[in-house]
Amino acid sequence: MTSIFPEDKPGITKEKPHNAKIIIEDLSTWFGRKKILKNISCYFEDRNVTAIMGPSGCGKSTLLRTMNRLNDLIGNFKATGKIFIEGDDILRPEANVYSLRAKVGMVFQRPNPFPMSIKDNITYGPSLQGINDEDEQERIVETCLKKAALWDEVKDNLDHPAPNLSGGQQQRLCIARALSVNPPILLMDEPVSALDPLSASKIEDLIIELKKEYAIIMVTHNVQQAFRVSDQAAFLYLGELVEFDKTKRIAEAPADDRTEAFITGRIG
Ligand SMILES: Nc1ncnc2c1ncn2[C@@H]1O[C@H](COP(=O)(O)OP(=O)(O)O)[C@@H](O)[C@H]1O
Ligand SMILES: [Mg+2]
Repeated sequence: MTSIFPEDKPGITKEKPHNAKIIIEDLSTWFGRKKILKNISCYFEDRNVTAIMGPSGCGKSTLLRTMNRLNDLIGNFKATGKIFIEGDDILRPEANVYSLRAKVGMVFQRPNPFPMSIKDNITYGPSLQGINDEDEQERIVETCLKKAALWDEVKDNLDHPAPNLSGGQQQRLCIARALSVNPPILLMDEPVSALDPLSASKIEDLIIELKKEYAIIMVTHNVQQAFRVSDQAAFLYLGELVEFDKTKRIAEAPADDRTEAFITGRIG
């Protein structure tokens, strides 16, 4: 794999990936004629949390959704460049979107449980993959709910409708559902910004726990949250990757005025 990471930008790390699950090379995207992401190269390491931060409208969700080919559904969307996920360039037209989605779990800003029972939310994906054995399904339900720190609260009510849970519980259920097909990568788009502070901090703790097993990429416009939770961070500004490095370095010594303005609250 050729590497084209820019060496000449002060905010971008010169370190090469060690154990990256995702490597992005020269990614640009458009909605119609409007260029949204501008020649982005970066990578996301396994067993790590990377925060993608930046002001509203800078392209964070677009970047995340491009990694899961979710923008394909939008007619005027176009992407150039490469996104290697476990070595496979998922932007190739012939890339298998189903096997991609099995590698990449997604959690959205608003909890979106299916209108079915707690248990069925979790067995839905495995069933589609042909896992219909009841013991096996029960094992998956318990494992995923435990990983999502929800098991103790719902274990006696697995047949209750998921939409009756509180917002924070619903979001943890959505995390459990994303884990149900055992993807190595979790994409989270502002996963706590619609929640109350207590639920949000529970999910932050959960993300820190989950990174022992997964590559986690979390979009947030909340700088303090990015600093609390992430190991690496990317700062996007108007579609440009301005900064990409260890979170600690960016927090202590932002290399670009725009990053400094964002983390000190002057923009965003
Ligand atoms: N479906 C779409 N069609 C056209 N433009 C879009 C669409 N989705 C997002 N955009 C534009 O792309 C830019 C980046 O949006 P987005 O990725 O949602 O930003 P963020 O998540 O950082 O707030 C914005 O200018 C937004 O208006
Ligand atoms: Mg967004």
